[in-house]
Amino acid sequence: MQHPGFRFAGIGSYLPDEIVTNDDLAANMDTSDQWIRERTGIGQRHVGGSTSSLAAEAASRAMKRANVSPADIDQLLLATTSPDYICPGTAPAVAEILGLDCGALDIQAACSGWVYGLVMANGLLLQGMKRVLVVGAEALDQITDYTDRNTGILFGNGAGAAVVEADPTGESELLGWDMGADGKYVSILYAEHGDVLKMDGKEVFRQAVTAMQRSASNALEMAGLDVDDIDLVIPHQANVRIVEAAWKRIGFTMEKTGMRLEETGNTSAASIPLVLDKMLDDGRIREGNTVMFLGFGAGMTWATAIVRYAGERS
Ligand code: ACO
Repeated sequence: MQHPGFRFAGIGSYLPDEIVTNDDLAANMDTSDQWIRERTGIGQRHVGGSTSSLAAEAASRAMKRANVSPADIDQLLLATTSPDYICPGTAPAVAEILGLDCGALDIQAACSGWVYGLVMANGLLLQGMKRVLVVGAEALDQITDYTDRNTGILFGNGAGAAVVEADPTGESELLGWDMGADGKYVSILYAEHGDVLKMDGKEVFRQAVTAMQRSASNALEMAGLDVDDIDLVIPHQANVRIVEAAWKRIGFTMEKTGMRLEETGNTSAASIPLVLDKMLDDGRIREGNTVMFLGFGAGMTWATAIVRYAGERS
């Protein structure tokens, strides 16, 4: 079967109104705005809302930009590591809010989840679907202890969404991808039922850099591309120093990197689509550009997708 192509028909994102600054955190724990900015690149994070409500807001913005109605969506994939409930999944609740009449399931691959979703959406288009809604949404304030300076400085809430559709013109496509996981590292970042996130920050840092390098390289090889062929990279937003360390190994530059970490903190599965929306707003992505999405997260998991972008601001 000829591949139907892969096009972003519409992108949307949403951050809840309430903001917690570094100074707000420093009032409750032994840290400072200067330390957090220098060691992570984070200036603030948004809190509030449930994963389903944040997801639905971002998704409805993406659908509006794509100019599609609920009946036009063939599948909802919701990447989240902070679901509303352990059971059921959060995706059916989001589908209900949006008025969708299609399959809906959660992807739990931590911060890599939205990129996993893009690759899976590509497969569903290949199976004949016309449009897949891929959402990354997190209410990480539900599982973050904002008095623990080891984790509380990092995480925030938000959501981003893409309507992905078949593109028979072939102008836009998924050029290469990579997905991986290594369960040896479950214990370096986890939350038990009813508890908050626990993390070995130094080990996460080390493993993240290695995973990013390997995943980017695998996806570039599949696409038959070099580092210089990538016009913009959007990495998972966890710590700017992780990105800088990975780029030193891979050869990317910060000039060609989409970042929004200062404004959002680490929003896990939502972080990459949140940056994508901003990059489109800022005119940083143009017709024909080759864009890499590079995620890593708890598990460890990692995922890369390289997309040739076509279309106006969508
Ligand atoms: N404020 C002030 N001082 C602090 C803080 C803080 N919040 N945290 C640690 N310190 C102190 C330490 O006590 C230590 O002091 P010492 O030198 O007197 O012993 C010093 O600062 C350095 O501490 P480190 O732990 O070495 O700090 P590091 O530079 O490693 O930064 C951090 C810690 C930010 C957590 C870093 O390791 C990191 O970003 N790791 C990756 C975290 C991450 O990305 N997690 C999520 C990824 S995947 C996902 O999102 C699901």
